[in-house]
Amino acid sequence: MHWILFLHILMGKWIILPVLSSSSLLIECFLLTEHILCLSYFCISGQCCFFTCRLYEYHFIAENKSWYEAQRYCREKYTDLAKVFDMTDMSRLRNSTPNQGEAWIGLNNNTGGNRTWHWSLPGVKYIQNDSSWNLNGRTVNELPGNCGRKRDKLVDVSCDSTMWFICYSEMKKDKKTLHLIPKLMNWTEAQSYCRSNHTDLASGLNQVDGKEIEALMKSKNSSFRAWIGLFRDSWRWSDGSDFSFRYWDMQLFNDTQSNKKCAMTLLNRSGKWSSDECDKEKPFFCYDDNLILVGENKTWEEALYYCRENYNDLVSITNSDEQNWIQEKVKEANSTYVWLGLRYTCTLGFWFWVTDEVVKYKNWGSDVTTDGCDMSGAINAGSPHEWSKQADNKKFNFICSKK
Ligand SMILES: *[C@@H]1O[C@H](CO)[C@@H](O)[C@H](O)[C@H]1NC(C)=O
Ligand SMILES: *[C@@H]1O[C@H](CO)[C@@H](O)[C@H](O)[C@H]1NC(C)=O
Ligand SMILES: *[C@@H]1O[C@H](CO)[C@@H](O)[C@H](O)[C@H]1NC(C)=O
Ligand SMILES: *[C@@H]1O[C@H](CO)[C@@H](O)[C@H](O)[C@H]1NC(C)=O
Ligand SMILES: *[C@@H]1O[C@H](CO)[C@@H](O)[C@H](O)[C@H]1NC(C)=O
Ligand SMILES: *[C@@H]1O[C@H](CO)[C@@H](O)[C@H](O)[C@H]1NC(C)=O
Ligand SMILES: *[C@@H]1O[C@H](CO)[C@@H](O)[C@H](O)[C@H]1NC(C)=O
Ligand SMILES: *[C@@H]1O[C@H](CO)[C@@H](O)[C@H](O)[C@H]1NC(C)=O
Ligand SMILES: *[C@@H]1O[C@H](CO)[C@@H](O)[C@H](O)[C@H]1NC(C)=O
Ligand SMILES: *[C@@H]1O[C@H](CO)[C@@H](O)[C@H](O)[C@H]1NC(C)=O
Ligand SMILES: *[C@@H]1O[C@H](CO)[C@@H](O)[C@H](O)[C@H]1NC(C)=O
Repeated sequence: MHWILFLHILMGKWIILPVLSSSSLLIECFLLTEHILCLSYFCISGQCCFFTCRLYEYHFIAENKSWYEAQRYCREKYTDLAKVFDMTDMSRLRNSTPNQGEAWIGLNNNTGGNRTWHWSLPGVKYIQNDSSWNLNGRTVNELPGNCGRKRDKLVDVSCDSTMWFICYSEMKKDKKTLHLIPKLMNWTEAQSYCRSNHTDLASGLNQVDGKEIEALMKSKNSSFRAWIGLFRDSWRWSDGSDFSFRYWDMQLFNDTQSNKKCAMTLLNRSGKWSSDECDKEKPFFCYDDNLILVGENKTWEEALYYCRENYNDLVSITNSDEQNWIQEKVKEANSTYVWLGLRYTCTLGFWFWVTDEVVKYKNWGSDVTTDGCDMSGAINAGSPHEWSKQADNKKFNFICSKK
């Protein structure tokens, strides 16, 4: 972890001190017009996680309710029934209770069997592109199905078939991110292999249609085929998110049981998921949003103080997942722009987040030049939701973080 300490001393001169990366204490001071504001954060190791923890938290409710009653309860008291983005979320969910029984989560199959495609790697959004598919590409021995495999194009085949597969590694191994695994496995087995030994099955068109896979395919003959991380199901999250993460317990979960349309986590089986009839009564998990869109118009500085007094801070965006998340939120705003915790320092000539982060991830529109005195950063409430610099006395809606 790399903290940067901004220290504002008298007369508007900035000193930036990089604090040792092992340090877990962060002190932050700002001089804004007449106030000096100092904040300190303590980051207890293991409790800091940098994506979904900042966005929502879980609550276990130890009352027996049907899935729909549980949904109503969560929507009233929190945000909605729990959704799970990835394995880190799954551990957070399990650790939020010592309970070892079954509990509802916010996933259900009440979609009339309307299946949609997903990429296995969390956060990669499936976007249909017909030119990547060959709908007539199955060989005579292949049955149609709900998993995707690759030859020159993508083809949908039965998930029971066994073939070689391509794993994606976040950390490059031998200068490569894609690795062909020459073992015969069905799709589910291939997915767990990649998740435990690499990151996941190859996911997203950048990976499965990219240069690296092309090179990998070139060395193979024309009958070569391999699994990639594409699957199709009819399960949906209660709040409408299209999170693709699934954690089915393959020994208990039966994909074709159409009477069991609601998903539960089995806390005594590592939290793995199975399905049950929705009117059965069980305890459940809710989630609570950590980001609040405030529908009042304020100047940037008023917004900053409002957030710091009532919640935690003005929001920062440090990766594309957070950007995607906030894009969904700002669609509800009543002003054309929405303030972010993004500020320009005239003296040093760069942008920074008022929380501790440096601006590494960027999503600026085209209008940004380096000169931005008395400017703060806002996100466009309409598509394409780019950031722009705005005079800080303009009044917009804004987003606060609770944690
Ligand atoms: C929920 O139901 C289970 C099984 O029917 C029961 O053991 C448990 O005590 C109930 N919990 C509550 C809080 O009523
Ligand atoms: C887990 O809990 C379920 C009931 O919720 C029970 O049927 C099952 O036997 C338990 N399994 C283990 C391994 O304890
Ligand atoms: C979901 O429900 C549909 C229609 O009721 C059913 O055909 C399907 O097998 C169920 N399961 C999954 C995983 O889609
Ligand atoms: C199936 O779901 C997709 C995506 O959610 C939607 O665009 C489509 O209209 C749905 N089809 C039916 C028949 O409901
Ligand atoms: C679809 O894929 C083709 C070839 O891979 C690419 O040229 C095209 O830009 C893609 N279309 C969209 C809308 O992404
Ligand atoms: C994949 O293989 C495993 C182990 O043989 C089996 O338990 C599982 O049901 C298979 N999954 C599919 C989708 O065929
Ligand atoms: C990970 O790789 C090792 C060695 O290749 C293999 O034995 C193991 O089964 C793999 N893990 C999974 C979950 O398949
Ligand atoms: C293609 O390669 C596979 C192994 O990668 C081999 O089993 C198969 O016989 C080859 N087919 C042809 C037509 O050469
Ligand atoms: C799954 O459920 C269906 C319908 O209830 C049943 O026909 C099938 O045998 C079950 N499969 C397994 C592996 O239990
Ligand atoms: C935007 O205005 C509408 C209508 O006045 C209101 O219902 C809605 O809550 C406002 N949005 C926010 C974020 O306050
Ligand atoms: C905020 O400003 C917008 C115009 O930028 C206006 O449409 C909206 O009604 C204002 N909202 C409030 C709560 O004053």
